[in-house]
Amino acid sequence: MSKQFDVVVIGAGPGGYIAAIRAAQLGFSVACAESNPYADPKGEPRLGGTCLNVGCIPSKAMLASSEEFEKAGHHLADHGINVSGVSLDVAKLLKRKDAIVDKMTGGVAFLFRKNKIATLKGHASFVGKVEGGFALKVAGKDGVEEVTAKHVIVATGSKARHLPGIPVDNKLVCDNEGAQDFAEVPKKLGVIGAGVIGLELGSVWRRLGSDVTVLEALPAFLGAADESIAKEAAKIFKKQGLNINLGVKIGEVKTSKTGVSISYTDAAGAAQKLDCDRLIVSVGRVPNTEGLNLEAVGLKANERGFIDVDGHCATSVSGIWAIGDVVRGPMLAHKSEDEGVLVAEQIAGQKPHIDYNCIPWVIYTSPEIAWVGKTEQKLKAEGRAYKPGQFPFAANGRALGMAAAEGFVKVLADAATDEILGVHIIGVGASDLIAEAAVAMEFKAAAEDIGRISHPHPSLSEVMREAALSATDKRALNM
Ligand code: FAD
Ligand code: NAI
Repeated sequence: MSKQFDVVVIGAGPGGYIAAIRAAQLGFSVACAESNPYADPKGEPRLGGTCLNVGCIPSKAMLASSEEFEKAGHHLADHGINVSGVSLDVAKLLKRKDAIVDKMTGGVAFLFRKNKIATLKGHASFVGKVEGGFALKVAGKDGVEEVTAKHVIVATGSKARHLPGIPVDNKLVCDNEGAQDFAEVPKKLGVIGAGVIGLELGSVWRRLGSDVTVLEALPAFLGAADESIAKEAAKIFKKQGLNINLGVKIGEVKTSKTGVSISYTDAAGAAQKLDCDRLIVSVGRVPNTEGLNLEAVGLKANERGFIDVDGHCATSVSGIWAIGDVVRGPMLAHKSEDEGVLVAEQIAGQKPHIDYNCIPWVIYTSPEIAWVGKTEQKLKAEGRAYKPGQFPFAANGRALGMAAAEGFVKVLADAATDEILGVHIIGVGASDLIAEAAVAMEFKAAAEDIGRISHPHPSLSEVMREAALSATDKRALNM
């Protein structure tokens, strides 16, 4: 007799594990299946998905280490602090990162126990519809287990997209997994794709000492960001020594015992070659829908491999939901989490809602880039009348004190009503500063609301306030 649950979640990434916890909080019996290969010390699949195992969390741990290293080597002297003999212990850096991953993934296991969520260890797939729900099987190292569920939440996430003819071995040619595990700093590092991963991990290894060259197919840099932010970022990254080539066409990639050679055509059409010790391929991610046997319940992945859902994450089959990277929308951990809560609450009969326009984006480079809402180019394309307001970190005492005065905050407000339509930041602390903008937009605040609210002094948040005042009617006080 198979075990019965109210809700079975497939995938224990940030979408799945949060959905499972919220469903348990709402009183449902819940199980969550996880099949990933990142085994814990007992050889069991580790919870936490891409985010905790090979994504957000390890990459940010490495980011922090590399920033400390760069500071110690290059910037502490500006504060009158003289250090000498700075050296790098890569093995220790990686061990610290791995310990954080262990702590975080173990934390999810603890939360599952606390909320009485059953963990199904193995690959889950649909068997078919049964009375009052769905039958699933979970194939793990100890055999196959059958379970039934009234509701199924598919949260199977995504994996790195690879390029034809460029096999990834995660030693010389790496995706996000190998790129966070180099045993030593590559002298020359090549990166294909100047997207979020390319810029974040490229910056990490540059700070640790690599000579980094990024090859990007598109002629424009950071096309999803506001153009003025992308322009500023390109300027700053170039100054830092990140070599970014736009408009390239990748040709043959050859590997030898010790390195990788990439032939490509540059933007002017000239043939070029890049020889490097390691190559990171970061050209986007593809949804995990293989092996789910969706057809057994009357579903199928669309032509791009995603599961089609409506604005509330319902699939075309009542009782089956899909969330996170495996469905439309940005591939972000917090978006997956928000959708997990949304679905659990709908199963409980509640009427939650997500405003996708208010989901913030952050690129964890140094300085950070963050935005929420619409870009200036999008507002122009929509023909919407708007007022921009901008304020630089260079005019903020706290940023100067931190020796981090690069960048600016830009607020875009509706020309007639002053409602905030978008906020764009490049600068120190952008990942935290953007939260104020997201709250303001959720509450449909006017730029003047932010301008009139007391902000602590001296703090980086004053830059947001000044940019908002500037958007309202050019009345920034410290400019
Ligand atoms: P995932 O986290 O991919 O989890 C899905 C889980 O489902 C996996 O563990 C998988 O093993 C499991 N699974 C799949 N199929 C089955 C099956 N049939 N049976 C059982 N289990 C299955 N986002 C941010 O917001 N901020 C960041 O800073 C950030 N940094 C990132 C850095 C890197 C290097 C990468 C690669 C990604 C980063 N992301 C970041 C993106 C973020 O990791 C994803 O958006 C997020 O993990 C998606 O969550 P998810 O739950 O939808 O899927
Ligand atoms: P991406 O979509 O951000 O960028 C991929 C880049 O590769 C694009 O600029 C694209 O034009 C380029 N590209 C595609 N094919 C190419 C080719 N053949 N040759 C050269 N360039 C090519 O994808 P990335 O960086 O792999 O990250 C995947 C996703 O993971 C992100 O979109 C994001 O959703 C998530 N992520 C989020 C982070 C965050 O929130 N801070 C950090 C890292 C990843």
